[in-house]
Amino acid sequence: MSRESAITLKSEMTDAEVYSIKNAIKDSKLTGLHIEIGTAAGGTLCEILKCYQNELKVVPPQFVIIDPLTYFDDQYEKICLNLKNNGLSQNNITFEKNKSSVAFRNLSAHAGEIDFILIDGNHKINHFVGDLRFSRYLKAGGLLLIHDYSNGFKGIHSATNNFLNKYRNYEVLSHVDSLIVLRKKTETNIREVSKMDLLTSKLVNIYQQISKSIHKRIFSNFLSS
Ligand SMILES: C[S@@+](CC[C@H](N)C(=O)[O-])C[C@H]1O[C@@H](n2cnc3c(N)ncnc32)[C@H](O)[C@@H]1O
Repeated sequence: MSRESAITLKSEMTDAEVYSIKNAIKDSKLTGLHIEIGTAAGGTLCEILKCYQNELKVVPPQFVIIDPLTYFDDQYEKICLNLKNNGLSQNNITFEKNKSSVAFRNLSAHAGEIDFILIDGNHKINHFVGDLRFSRYLKAGGLLLIHDYSNGFKGIHSATNNFLNKYRNYEVLSHVDSLIVLRKKTETNIREVSKMDLLTSKLVNIYQQISKSIHKRIFSNFLSS
């Protein structure tokens, strides 16, 4: 499938969402590692880096991009081109060309070094809940941003609400369009996302897949009758 961002190289977020990310960054003075799970053409990545470089006039932080880079043809090359077009260096960026489930293990060495996590990868509930585990690596004071927190993505919406109910040390800084920005106020007493949370999300995903295929079959039978 061709994606608009593959051509425009723009952020897949709304202007208001990008603006709210920049505001959170400006208010937070973050220096630790930054992570984006799911980058498309790197449009949002470029906006964040430009905020540091051109607006705050500081050296942009180290960034890890987690993405299998199969979203569209030549995704890696297009991200590099996007950085270049925006006058941004690639020196502070590490590409973890993997699914986030694999990257989660690879990044365990960075636990406690991370200041910023943007989750915008696979939107199925089981993948999203898996991605929420990265919050274990987030420093106190760090930001956790979740895209597609909306009724259009019920799994992401309900799993985020459960997360906020369970981990009271996270506060909502802003909710603009479908981007919610959270701050980890203090260290978490129990590790974020339990085995039971993961298992439940897998079962919900199976249920959603089955009901989707039943609906599809009923609909196509109806059309062909
Ligand atoms: C909605 S796009 C990201 C948009 C981007 N954050 C932006 O604001 O422009 C989703 C991205 O997630 C990536 N993706 C899909 N499955 C993934 C997974 N399991 N782990 C990490 N990234 C994944 C896709 O390759 C794609 O680049």
